[in-house]
Amino acid sequence: MNMTPSPTQGAASRRRRPSTWCWVSLLAALLGLPVSNSGAAEVDPAEDSGILTPPAPATPRLQGPRVTGVRKGSPFLHRVPATGERPMTFSAVGLPAGLGLDPKTGIITGRVDQEGTSVVTLTAVNAQGRDSRTLRIVVGTTLALTPPMGWNSWYIHYDRVSDRIMREAADQMVATGMADYGYEYVNIDDCWMVKVDSKDPELGGEVRDADGRLRPNRRFPDMRAMTEYIHARGLKAGLYTSPGPKTCAGFAGSYGHEALDARTFADWGFDFLKYDWCSYTEKAGGKELEHMVKPYRLIWSELQKQSRDIVHNLCQYGMADVWTWGGTVGNCWRTTGDLGLENAGRLPAFYSIGLSNARHAEHAKPGGWNDPDYILIGWVGNAHKMGEGTRTTLTPLEQYSYMSMWSLMAAPLIFSGDMARLDAFTLNILCNHEVIDLNQDPLGRQARIVRKSEQELVMVKELEDGSRGIGLFNLGEAPASVKVSWAEAGLSGGRYAIRDVWRQKDLVESESGFESRIGRHGVRLVRVRAAGRP
Ligand code: GAL
Repeated sequence: MNMTPSPTQGAASRRRRPSTWCWVSLLAALLGLPVSNSGAAEVDPAEDSGILTPPAPATPRLQGPRVTGVRKGSPFLHRVPATGERPMTFSAVGLPAGLGLDPKTGIITGRVDQEGTSVVTLTAVNAQGRDSRTLRIVVGTTLALTPPMGWNSWYIHYDRVSDRIMREAADQMVATGMADYGYEYVNIDDCWMVKVDSKDPELGGEVRDADGRLRPNRRFPDMRAMTEYIHARGLKAGLYTSPGPKTCAGFAGSYGHEALDARTFADWGFDFLKYDWCSYTEKAGGKELEHMVKPYRLIWSELQKQSRDIVHNLCQYGMADVWTWGGTVGNCWRTTGDLGLENAGRLPAFYSIGLSNARHAEHAKPGGWNDPDYILIGWVGNAHKMGEGTRTTLTPLEQYSYMSMWSLMAAPLIFSGDMARLDAFTLNILCNHEVIDLNQDPLGRQARIVRKSEQELVMVKELEDGSRGIGLFNLGEAPASVKVSWAEAGLSGGRYAIRDVWRQKDLVESESGFESRIGRHGVRLVRVRAAGRP
């Protein structure tokens, strides 16, 4: 039970100049890699930057979700995620009647009038080669058959968000390649409406028009044009409101106007709604379960009446055990308070939020996901001050742990840092197709914790093909070994092949389990399959 160093590691250490040994050793310790007696670190040269995700090949590689849901008659929009050299030509066999694929962009659009499941074979071809794989399109009643992936404006733009920022974010999602990995939602958070009683000429004014329709503030001159812009790139648009009279930042909410607001959001072309409790406490009339569920049931029933699909994201911070009923009125539900406001203790905030969220694993399923809040890496603003962005203070290893945990927990993968300042390291965290595959696995199971102490955490996620995603986390302050046995992972006796998911490399085979040395607050993320299986 040991991890095998990559075949290139010995050569890499021989090539390394002595002057670099010191920092390389330090990096190796951070990454939890073995350090040889001579002091030379056995580090793959590509890992010097801390980047573990191998670059995508020039040949086409189809990736992202393997299943997607749509309601009968609703507009369907799916940009086939694929990496590889452009131009690329896309084709599809087995599309249900009513859908068509643009061969140049790989964007599938249309409407389907009959319920049922189609197994579509997608193919992408470029000058270097081709790739094919299947996508199941389920025309039925359930949306978000895999956890939503995208970006949300909150943690970088706060009350500065605008139409221009949202359009740029859509462009950046395509330009950075995030869309090629399955990121698709471009979501405005709070502060797009009129701010109640504000004297600011851009934010203030009449909250609703003469017909009672909610008015965007002056930074959003034309919502419909904005969603069309986002849709034209094959992406989807989201927005935010509150069941209370005011949002958490003091902007106009939907209280008393739910039916009209749901219709307005659909007319504008939105595909995702975050519904944030905020000032609803003053209207709830009690703290019993029925009071907690009521506003979410109301907006859910209004969303069902619309002629387009709108994913419903409940945000009420985990009150009244929302994980036990959120799936009856929505597609994902925040299980905790705001990650950006969480006080980090010895461990960074994502660990405490993630561990709370992990307790509700049994409630996650296709169409209904526990939501531990956004991925706050790269450039992010200080939520306490709604401030400008600064670079995350999380170490590289902590960022690998963050993304690994969110993937294992089948959490919505919503990045909320600055799309304009995405660097290579941040993109390596967000865009590793094997890590994302764990998150998007169609079985829709959330990892369960099989071991947890002050020093270590082991999470195991069951996957559709019978394999397991396993995260070994070192919660301690120094490098340490963490192990898992196949029995703990729920695997029956036999020989299993272990693949390092971040590095996309096969490691050893074992009949008993796996052990790895891991740096401070870091992770080893592996996928374990019966040996001899693809
Ligand atoms: C909080 C919510 C955050 C953000 C903020 C906007 O209640 O949890 O995610 O939406 O409101 O004011």
